[in-house]
Amino acid sequence: MAVIALGVLVSGSGTNLQAILDAIAAKTLDARVAVVISNVATAKALARAQRANVPTRVIDHKAYADRAAFDAAVVAELRAHGVEHVVLAGFMRIVTPVLLDAFPSRVINVHPALLPAFPGVDAQKQALDYGVRVTGCTVHLVDAGTDTGPILAQAVVPVLDGDDADTLGARILREEHALLPRALQWIAEGRVRVESRDGQRVRVRVDGVATTAIGVSLRS
Ligand code: GAR
Repeated sequence: MAVIALGVLVSGSGTNLQAILDAIAAKTLDARVAVVISNVATAKALARAQRANVPTRVIDHKAYADRAAFDAAVVAELRAHGVEHVVLAGFMRIVTPVLLDAFPSRVINVHPALLPAFPGVDAQKQALDYGVRVTGCTVHLVDAGTDTGPILAQAVVPVLDGDDADTLGARILREEHALLPRALQWIAEGRVRVESRDGQRVRVRVDGVATTAIGVSLRS
């Protein structure tokens, strides 16, 4: 089977990148990571990529006049590596139409909450502050808003007594690590369709079915 070429954008520890690399190595994800790009030179994700012999680039957003100029540099690097799909895996920058128009419906984000609840930063703390009993993670296609794009998959995670943002975040991350490679494999298998109708929200369908939620995890 043909493999899809991924460009993975990161800013931090890169455990989601690791989950992608591990799924590729385990042959449960028909993809290759063509390049990993970080806006942070010290991101641990870069070492993970290097250990897997994946090319890395650091593109420091502070060196660019605005978000669009930064995204143009990112797009040039992604194109130079033949990237087909872009994965935001803990990439803590808002992307612009420069990136989105270069990869239409091909930019995928993982977010640590059940969107549309708790978009933006500190989603785990937002969930704790609100007092929800369950939260989770979402894999979605990126659109021009912040964490507003059509949902591809979600997993539910309980909030337990005594949780802080770190314990809750770790529980959510475990589900991200399963959900993101699984959603990417649906894309690799050509099972994902974007459906847009006048006046309605854009939806993503997998095998022609509206949206995909993956069960409640009772793991703590
Ligand atoms: C993950 O929890 C991811 O969902 C989140 O950052 C973490 C990155 O972890 N992303 C966002 O909050 C984006 N809004 P990782 O670097 O270990 O993959």
